[in-house]
Amino acid sequence: MHTFWLMISIQVALCSCHYMYGPDRSWNIRSKGELKSKDFWFHDAQRTVYEKTSTIPNQYLAKNIILFLGDGMSVPTVTAARIYDGQKKGIVGERNRLEFEKFNYVGLSKTYCADKQVSDSAATASAYLSGIKANYLTIGVSADVKVNDCEAAKSPSNRLSSIATWAMRGRKSAGLVTTTRVTHASPAGVYAHTSNRDFESDFDVKDQGHDPSKCPDIAQQLLSDEGQRLKVVMGGGTRKFLPNTEKDVYGNVGERLDGRNLINEWQRSKHGNAQVVFNRTNLLSINPYNTDYLLGLFNASHLAYKLDDSIDTPTLEEMTETAIKVLSANPGGFFLFVEGGRIDHAHHETKAKKAMEETVQFSNAVKKARELTNPWETLIVVTADHGHTMTINGYPDINNDITGLSSDLSDLDYLPYATLSYANGPEMNRFYELETSNNTVKRVDLRNLNIGDKDARYPHGVPYSEETHGGGDVAVYANGPWSHLFSGVYEQNTIPHLMGFASCIGPGITYCDLRPKAAYVP
Ligand SMILES: *[C@@H]1O[C@H](CO)[C@@H](O)[C@H](O)[C@H]1NC(C)=O
Ligand SMILES: *[C@@H]1O[C@H](CO)[C@@H](O)[C@H](O)[C@H]1NC(C)=O
Ligand SMILES: *[C@@H]1O[C@H](CO)[C@@H](O)[C@H](O)[C@H]1NC(C)=O
Ligand SMILES: [Zn+2]
Repeated sequence: MHTFWLMISIQVALCSCHYMYGPDRSWNIRSKGELKSKDFWFHDAQRTVYEKTSTIPNQYLAKNIILFLGDGMSVPTVTAARIYDGQKKGIVGERNRLEFEKFNYVGLSKTYCADKQVSDSAATASAYLSGIKANYLTIGVSADVKVNDCEAAKSPSNRLSSIATWAMRGRKSAGLVTTTRVTHASPAGVYAHTSNRDFESDFDVKDQGHDPSKCPDIAQQLLSDEGQRLKVVMGGGTRKFLPNTEKDVYGNVGERLDGRNLINEWQRSKHGNAQVVFNRTNLLSINPYNTDYLLGLFNASHLAYKLDDSIDTPTLEEMTETAIKVLSANPGGFFLFVEGGRIDHAHHETKAKKAMEETVQFSNAVKKARELTNPWETLIVVTADHGHTMTINGYPDINNDITGLSSDLSDLDYLPYATLSYANGPEMNRFYELETSNNTVKRVDLRNLNIGDKDARYPHGVPYSEETHGGGDVAVYANGPWSHLFSGVYEQNTIPHLMGFASCIGPGITYCDLRPKAAYVP
């Protein structure tokens, strides 16, 4: 009662302000001169006060849940991508907002795993999908399973169930969409149980020195247990599904040793209208409303980076749109996992510009999901599995090209530096050279490198074969029913517990257990 009247009176007090500076009106500015205006900052802050005070906590049942996972999308990645996106649109980059930055509630997720301070995409998938922290490199199994212990991974007591399984047990549909191979660590967390994330095909198991009959590969798990019940699976990775005697539609030969064509097996095993598509034209031509099952494999391996030319590859946004339309057929609702998986890969290669573009693509997919769903019944959670070592450094001027060189020079060697750089990475020699006159190491002049190009590698410190993950907390952005529960600082494995609470699925306590109390209106 009190909160309600307080909100009403604040809204009345602020409504003239809102009238003049209504939603999104002054967010985007084209001239950085405005940033010098005292009035601008005053009204900007007042508008945020208005928006916050007019937000009522949403305590409805979450019929649908969409989990968006930006692989390796650290907080600096989000900041830099926001600026990059704004600068491409011709507005002052710092003022821009990615789609999920418009959400009302944000929290921080602690990403370490059971045995590593800095984690990987496998162990973190067990945390944010199954609600339990586990060992580095393992997927869908508890920390009692050590890496490569295939026997322990088979024990039912060690196997974790993901929120996709909780949803399907609760009569909802479930699906996944990714820009990586669908057998890669993050999407595998939706349906697979393995003591090693690299066991993507039986070839991989053997290649790692293990027995494929004892260590079931990830691709075949998509055709058994919970994997076979997923309604939508889209991403890349045909070679993990085809025998080494067959080629996919792009002419790439498969790698399976067991002679199985898992794509055909998948289609034959489904009842109803089961569609398999291999390119964007195919995908956009199906009718999602009469498709019961959809398998889309758009590359032999990962989908190409958006900044690279590729043949007929759908965007993450297009895959997300089709997935939501297929899954919406179930009146009981759905769980959908959407991964922007190549933000991480671009960072590993220290190709910051590609990481920025992949993050923008990811944001576009979130936007599409918001357009297609009702916030009163669909909970959207956007987060990352772990960070990276990229920083936004130095003192560049406002709206300086974020993917370029800083507007000032180092005050020690008087050479330019890149605004984006990494703590570690490959190709050290590209950035440092020997000053032979006195045998000291100096930085190269970055003006002679291709900083700003899509394939430019950005400078870094410690030499490493590929740039590593970062151990900083990552943000969790939430919108829809019970999204206010996602604020604060918490362990990464809390995320599915909160989603389960909001949608009354899973083994933990749910809103439906508390409903009589929660629905009480004073
Ligand atoms: C897309 O796939 C369809 C069916 O497999 C095929 O006929 C078509 O040529 C493909 N398009 C391109 C551009 O490869
Ligand atoms: C698959 O990805 C590779 C690497 O990114 C790219 O070169 C190729 O064009 C892609 N293939 C298709 C069919 O899109
Ligand atoms: C080494 O020589 C270069 C070129 O003469 C000079 O700029 C630099 O300051 C010297 N470094 C040291 C540590 O003396
Ligand atoms: Zn990674």
